[in-house]
Amino acid sequence: MTVTRAQVAALPKAELHLHIEGTLEPELALELSARNGVPLRHADAAALRRAYAFTSLSSFLDLYYECMAVLRTARDFADLAGAYLAKARADGVTRTEIFFDPQVHMARGVPLSAVIDGLSAAAGRSAAAGGPRAELIACFLRDRGPDDAMRTLESLAGHAGRLLGVGLDSAEVGYPPAGFAGVFDAARGLGLHTVAHAGEEGPPEYVWQALDLLGVERVDHGIRSVEDPALLRRLAADGTPLTVCPLSNVRLRCVDVMANHPLPRLLDAGVLVTVNSDDPAYFGGYVADNYLALAAELDLGLTDLAALAGNSITASLTGS
Ligand code: HPA
Ligand code: ZN
Repeated sequence: MTVTRAQVAALPKAELHLHIEGTLEPELALELSARNGVPLRHADAAALRRAYAFTSLSSFLDLYYECMAVLRTARDFADLAGAYLAKARADGVTRTEIFFDPQVHMARGVPLSAVIDGLSAAAGRSAAAGGPRAELIACFLRDRGPDDAMRTLESLAGHAGRLLGVGLDSAEVGYPPAGFAGVFDAARGLGLHTVAHAGEEGPPEYVWQALDLLGVERVDHGIRSVEDPALLRRLAADGTPLTVCPLSNVRLRCVDVMANHPLPRLLDAGVLVTVNSDDPAYFGGYVADNYLALAAELDLGLTDLAALAGNSITASLTGS
């Protein structure tokens, strides 16, 4: 039986791996480009979409950081998050833990308070309108190193009451988690939860480091854990969730085709797998599209999808 979009949307779910800057659709990017007088290299939405032919994580990150330049004010961040939250609601998302990249915005001269005020305003409106409930996770860019991350954490400290946690993202290979242990300890000292991208393009060793040295509660992506049986046993035994993003993995060529995605093998190993959209404006779909792609190409049925949705609620940092 074919699973329908309505059936997927009817499953209450959490989205736990979502970069708000990755929800910037070309139309909104162009609107903000005009509003703020920040030119983009690609002059119309079709040209921007044509540029979304990625060959790796870094080929995506180049365009992703470029497009962020149009985000300047609290209103821009509120518009961005408001548009995402409306789509998430339609997809049956009841709670979402939203990543943002403070270093990119601060480096462009955008005050951290504008970013957090704008995102928090959209979150407040969403909660008041019946959901989804949204919370914020500030990600450090691993390719800018631990010292920059520590300085960023000092800036974030004054806003800690409006943050759920910290994460680690951006170019992975060559930037192992180990160096960030002190930053993650300091973040916990501020009462923040911790998560990290690991094992997207990087080796299983980076996932071990995220667990053992950073002490993360959840691993973002983590798909290369499938190469290491001892790591799979560890993840399963501890109930450490993976926030898997199937369409992203195929678009960035971490996985060649959806039919070969490791998600079923991770589930078979007893790992708490969740399904998420990562950067939906760039990767061809929001969270329900990811569930539907699994149903269509990995032969998962509605019962399997309901279990994945249940996992996402369990894996939420704010508890079930
Ligand atoms: N990986 C690393 N950094 C990112 C990603 C990702 O998938 N998306 C946005 N920043
Ligand atoms: Zn990500």
